[in-house]
Amino acid sequence: MQKYVINGGKPLFGEIEISGAKNAAVAIIPAALLVDGVCRIENVPQISDVTLILRILEELGADVRLLNKNTVQIDSRHITSCHVPDELSRKMRASYYLIGALLGRFGQAVVSMPGGCDLGTRPIDLHVKSFEKLGARVDVVSGYVHATAPKTGLHGATIYMDQASVGATMNTMMAAARSTGLTIIENAAKEPHIVDLANFLNSMGADIMGAGTDVIRIRGVGQLHGGAYSIIPDQIEAGTYMAAVTATGGDVLIKNVIPKHLDCISAKLVEMGAKVEEIGDCVRISRSGPLKRVNVKTMPYPGFPTDMQPQISACLTIAEGTSVVTEGIWENRYRYVAEFRRMGAQIQVDGKIAVIEGVSKLSGAPLMACDLRAGAAMVIAGLAAEGTTDIGCIHYIERGYENLVEKLRGVGADICLVEDEDEEAQHKIEAV
Ligand code: EPZ
Repeated sequence: MQKYVINGGKPLFGEIEISGAKNAAVAIIPAALLVDGVCRIENVPQISDVTLILRILEELGADVRLLNKNTVQIDSRHITSCHVPDELSRKMRASYYLIGALLGRFGQAVVSMPGGCDLGTRPIDLHVKSFEKLGARVDVVSGYVHATAPKTGLHGATIYMDQASVGATMNTMMAAARSTGLTIIENAAKEPHIVDLANFLNSMGADIMGAGTDVIRIRGVGQLHGGAYSIIPDQIEAGTYMAAVTATGGDVLIKNVIPKHLDCISAKLVEMGAKVEEIGDCVRISRSGPLKRVNVKTMPYPGFPTDMQPQISACLTIAEGTSVVTEGIWENRYRYVAEFRRMGAQIQVDGKIAVIEGVSKLSGAPLMACDLRAGAAMVIAGLAAEGTTDIGCIHYIERGYENLVEKLRGVGADICLVEDEDEEAQHKIEAV
């Protein structure tokens, strides 16, 4: 077991290069199953969720080769199984994309109910409703989702999403890409990774229009061909480092981003006292003055992203005045609050609302990451705090951040990865 040890209180200066987007990669890699050919996917982040989804594809019979650190080649011409084993799929939420991809290509999928970070109940009813609208039969038996297309294959349909679900929108796009006829998704989610998946599929011969708006039209095509595609930069990784600079002060050039994707995050950080400047495919962020309070409500894109809520809350713990944070997507995304309180933060949570009274400083403390973005927020709090912060359970953070320690050290942070003997001991005790 490893942990991060952070000696906080240092402003950050320099440059950080952003990796490919996790939530695009974990959809585009399964989408390669829809292709009768070889896909070369570039700008793939080296994170544990990607390692896991690639392993699942290999288990299904795909030929997966790492051409270099961030480029993967996937040949799905000789898939041998449509059954995704439980021990792999329950480790990540995005394993639900295997249902849409396998159903869309082979007319059948057996996938264990997805796992992932605990952010509250995470149903997949909207995914199931969409597959059924396309003509599939879907049953949940002994923890597995069994989806089967009719003999004639999936057919186009008009699907109204009760809620603008990211996963259900992308899954429907995958299942419909090779169906017969026209599928229209209304009230579709609009996140950048939805546009990225549509661009990937279109570059392989699909016919998808309107991704990025709330109406997506998918005209099914008989086949998809191989090709090369580069994944967009990670909006949330960029936002996390921007929040870190806002919390610690300093001046950092965040490279390889799509600045438009960051507008919803930049706007809040500027309101808090940061300065953000767009320079081509970079943003420069600095803060030297006081941190000011803001109110934040998380919403679907282009609103403020839920995946940045813990990180901005970390900044608000040391802002002047009282801030109100409202979580608009997940029911259980404040599990990090107890850890922040150990550092001296003043936060009251009532349901989806957190009231944060800024304190003049946080003090370093031993913490445990409890999910991916909560863990990232603890890193930010540790960087801004006085003294030493240890963060355990970093496997959550490694699900979504490539080379976090190296990137932060590159801008002057005092953070390192060390073996966590205590945690190991703790695990032994629990095992007994
Ligand atoms: C995606 O999750 C992301 N995960 C999440 O990223 C992100 O928090 C979320 O979108 C919202 O932006 C991946 O892309 C792998 P949803 P997803 O379906 O698709 C409800 C991170 O930190 N809902 O848009 O699972 C649901 O309960 C993470 O990187 C249903 O009711 O989210 C939630 O309240 C974690 N029924 C809301 O919709 C369904 O069938 C939005 O969920 C599906 C969702």
